[in-house]
Amino acid sequence: MCDKKSYEQAIEELSLMLMYLTRTQDHSEFCRYRELSWKGYDFEMLDKLSGEELIIQPRGRRGYDKYLYLTEEGRRKAQNLLAKYGLCDKALNERFVLRNILPEEAEQAAQIEQICFPPNEACSKPRIMERVAAAPELFLVAVDQETGKLAGFLNGIATDEAVFRDEFFTDIKLHKPDGKNVMLLGLDVLPAYRGQGLAREIMFQYLRREWEKGRRKVALTCLQSKVKMYTKMGYQNAGISQSTWGGEQWYDMVHVLNI
Ligand SMILES: CC(C)(COP(=O)(O)OP(=O)(O)OC[C@H]1O[C@@H](n2cnc3c(N)ncnc32)[C@H](O)[C@@H]1OP(=O)(O)O)[C@@H](O)C(=O)NCCC(=O)NCCS
Repeated sequence: MCDKKSYEQAIEELSLMLMYLTRTQDHSEFCRYRELSWKGYDFEMLDKLSGEELIIQPRGRRGYDKYLYLTEEGRRKAQNLLAKYGLCDKALNERFVLRNILPEEAEQAAQIEQICFPPNEACSKPRIMERVAAAPELFLVAVDQETGKLAGFLNGIATDEAVFRDEFFTDIKLHKPDGKNVMLLGLDVLPAYRGQGLAREIMFQYLRREWEKGRRKVALTCLQSKVKMYTKMGYQNAGISQSTWGGEQWYDMVHVLNI
């Protein structure tokens, strides 16, 4: 019995892997988090992948653009295919899996928060537990494949409100799952994993996911020392925030995803 893939399946799987491996950062000012792939592939196969929601083919006034985006599902499928055929991904993707937090990881996340932030800024354990329970789809974790433990995470809640306020940190009832905006509440990377681009990868993956869901904007507050870091991630500095969290001065940073 022959267990070979059909010609069509071979083209489809190889094309998806190639789109994934050769994707490159979109350098447009407001969408650095996106990764585009060029479209030199069979058009029928591309339409099939669009139908399966594995890719997005943007359309301009004169028809389809020359590039495409992989959806989260498309990225996952490509990663699974690479693993199945024993092919390597980029080092960061080999080392970490990015996915929604699991309920049993809430305690770990609470510990990481205490390691990453001073006591006046850190979110308490009960608040982290509430967020994990109420909004796991907005709690993205990076898992070290070798240890199976969390290396870092980014969490937030959704709302129709446009401006950040400190109650988002403490009142989980403000989370509205289909809210048009996301308020980010914490970006944490354990010291042993810092300086390798993990925070940026977590942030970009988070923004891609929320862009795909059609959210309008993502907002966060940060200390002045982090303004440059978030600006490089595509955020705009909206000035001094009304937040007084931990008795410090914060800056409002905003990232528009969909107009
Ligand atoms: C800030 C933090 C998340 C960065 O994690 P990381 O994985 O080391 O960051 P990355 O390697 O992805 O770096 C991304 C960019 O941010 C910059 N950056 C990293 N840590 C920084 C810091 N502490 N201060 C200012 N900029 C920083 C890097 O220089 C890098 O810039 P580049 O694009 O020019 O290379 C991590 O140090 C941390 O958890 N700190 C404690 C919690 C915290 O401060 N979170 C942010 C709260 S607003």
